[in-house]
Amino acid sequence: MKKSSTAPIGIFDSGIGGLTVAKAVMKALPNEDIIYFGDTARVPYGIKSEETVRSYALQITEFLLSKGVKMILIACNTVSASAKDEIIKAAGDIPVLDVITAGTLAAISEPRHHHVGVIGTLATVNSKAYVKAITDIDKSIVVTQQACPLLVPLAEEGWIDNEIARQTLKHYLEVFKGKGLDSLILGCTHYPLFKEVIPELLNGDGASIIDSADSIAKTAFDRLADMELLNGSGGEFQCFVSDRPQRFQELAERFLGRSVSEITIVSL
Ligand code: DGL
Repeated sequence: MKKSSTAPIGIFDSGIGGLTVAKAVMKALPNEDIIYFGDTARVPYGIKSEETVRSYALQITEFLLSKGVKMILIACNTVSASAKDEIIKAAGDIPVLDVITAGTLAAISEPRHHHVGVIGTLATVNSKAYVKAITDIDKSIVVTQQACPLLVPLAEEGWIDNEIARQTLKHYLEVFKGKGLDSLILGCTHYPLFKEVIPELLNGDGASIIDSADSIAKTAFDRLADMELLNGSGGEFQCFVSDRPQRFQELAERFLGRSVSEITIVSL
């Protein structure tokens, strides 16, 4: 059955990181109601096995479907890498968008895209999901990946531009130096927070920085418009978390730069 245009968009992540996607969606689609789920009891996903991430992701998908969402955005790169196909199957005719497809399309749309860099969690990098998504479109593209496991805790601490953050980033980005990188995909929800510092540390190679949050928000807009499901009268933002709503609220307000009041705790 076709959903109503006033149904909410469901967005989910392992924790607060996916709020970078929620923020981009709020900007691109200010009249949509958004239901956000952050799995704060079980974050981080980036160091867990594919099977575990998949079973968590399917529980969250069921939860969002029970809320009557008209579209699901997988904001978490680790979930996109491990469970996208299973989520699409579980969602039936509800469209599912994911950050890996969005980031890939953005990178190959760049005028220069012969050499693409990807930074992400260990799980995302080990899955080679970005490498597969990019080379499935164009085999001649060279993809260099780098796992950056320390960036998630740094971002959660709000250490995004201090000496420790810079040294850590410098270490991780070393692998791309002098390799003629055309673009760098920020393949983790938390990395857009380092967006200001990264270009400088890439040493003026001129690589464009790809933030899949902007790209998935644009795709969501286009898909809803195509399906005639754009909402003209919403704008509510409701959050559900599996643990520590207060901590979520503090971090969410920092991430979004606005107050967040509707936070409900649920156990899946
Ligand atoms: N949301 C995760 C991602 O984008 C990062 C945090 C985690 O490891 O759960 O891969």
